[in-house]
Amino acid sequence: MISRKTKLIVVHHVSNVLASAFSIEEIAHWAHDVRAKVLVDTCQSVPHMMVDVQSLNVDFLVASSHKMRRRTSIGFLYGKSDILSTMHHFWVSHYNFHASSVSERNN
Ligand SMILES: Cc1ncc(COP(=O)(O)O)c(C=O)c1O
Repeated sequence: MISRKTKLIVVHHVSNVLASAFSIEEIAHWAHDVRAKVLVDTCQSVPHMMVDVQSLNVDFLVASSHKMRRRTSIGFLYGKSDILSTMHHFWVSHYNFHASSVSERNN
């Protein structure tokens, strides 16, 4: 249930089990109505279809490289620039899921 307490909605675009697709534009509309952010996992969609972050109107979008027959252990994160510019940088390791801020690492 989405309410004013919702901060982030994380949803996949296309299911790897059913191959069905969520209406991401609609989910983004519901989320933004309560000032929540949306992160969409497009691992199963970007290799097979055009995905337009602007028309989906999502705040964040991720996919992994190996689903596109490329290297394993890397991927990408898209984020709206006005949101990313307010966030602290951090490193995430695929192997140990350790995250720390860049400034912590440099000190
Ligand atoms: C929608 C979705 N996201 C993520 C993954 C897993 O991605 P990764 O292997 O990069 O962790 C899968 C795996 O099939 C998937 O279907």
